[in-house]
Amino acid sequence: LDDGLARTPPMGFNDWNSFGCNVDEKLITDTADYFVSSGLKDAGYTYVNIDDCWAAHDRDPQTGRLVPNPQTFPHGIKWVADHIHKQGLKLGIYTSAGTQTCAKTMPGALDHEDVDAQTFADWGVDYLKYDNCNNQDRPALERYTKMRDALKKTGRPIVFSLCEWGQNKPWEWGKDVGHLWRTTGDISDSWTSLLTIFKQNVSLAPYAGPGHWNDPDMLEVGNGGMTAREYRSHFSLWSIMAAPLLIGTDLRKATPETLSILENRDVIAVDQDPLGIQATVLSGDNGHWVLAKPLKNGDVAVTLFNETDTTATFGTTASALGLPKRPAYVLRDLWAHKDAETAGAVSGVVPPHGTVMYRVRRDSRAWAFQPPAAAFG
Ligand code: GLA
Repeated sequence: LDDGLARTPPMGFNDWNSFGCNVDEKLITDTADYFVSSGLKDAGYTYVNIDDCWAAHDRDPQTGRLVPNPQTFPHGIKWVADHIHKQGLKLGIYTSAGTQTCAKTMPGALDHEDVDAQTFADWGVDYLKYDNCNNQDRPALERYTKMRDALKKTGRPIVFSLCEWGQNKPWEWGKDVGHLWRTTGDISDSWTSLLTIFKQNVSLAPYAGPGHWNDPDMLEVGNGGMTAREYRSHFSLWSIMAAPLLIGTDLRKATPETLSILENRDVIAVDQDPLGIQATVLSGDNGHWVLAKPLKNGDVAVTLFNETDTTATFGTTASALGLPKRPAYVLRDLWAHKDAETAGAVSGVVPPHGTVMYRVRRDSRAWAFQPPAAAFG
């Protein structure tokens, strides 16, 4: 949607990948507190999002409104939102464009769009993830458009995340309906899941831009099913694809290694670049992927991703990246946080399942102070 929201991909947390239905208000407020104390907030993480299972099984019979589960959210959602807003953060919530949510523990919003949108707005919700379960086979476009209109009517700015798993090609219509749309089925904490989702999402680059993003699902970084190297690849690929960065791990137990991945500001800056271009594939032969993302200041971000089980040396060149001709370029290694100079080669030794990520700057440090146009016409 072109309404000023989500001009860069949303960053935050969602409980589903690590907690499933075991969500409660303490987890959500603890996570918000941790965003502030750990530096994640300063790194750009803003949305603390509640997924499925937060409401009671039935609507309030008098008002028709959803009721927060009294066991797990005894203070109600507005109380949670107030806590989160006080920290300078934003609250997300979840429901389904169906009769019930996917876990079937609470009602969905189908045919209750207006009352649910108004309830969320009254509570101070800033983000809605809208799922696709129990949809009674009614057309996706119609169901998602209804909620878009209901949210708009409330007058509250609410990021609208379409979660219909890429089933009805949401990249073709999602731009006018929501701010992001899932392009795939659910991610799981495994290397095969990561690869499958990456390959589906990477081809959809033309559809992404400020206010309208492809969503290859939430992060599994830190959940234990992959190696640290694979998690660095996960984070690098999601960032160069301008994907939402929604942390899906229990931050209260996160290791320093997990945090160092999630807080890598060089990589986050690629994800959050204001130009909002999703990387395209320059080459992907034999599982040696070269992805490039032009950045606002004229730099180009490059990810060299080795899908295979053996170390490989590969890459590209500054001219193939479309950079202007220069005697030298700066290659910033976004995981080593080191600058090097190159005459044009943008390549690296990439370990199995690993990633080398660069930011290529067209002027070397020595050259940056010369007038390049005059010197090279
Ligand atoms: C679907 C969604 C997931 C999660 C669950 C909750 O599977 O795709 O991301 O929200 O429902 O039940």
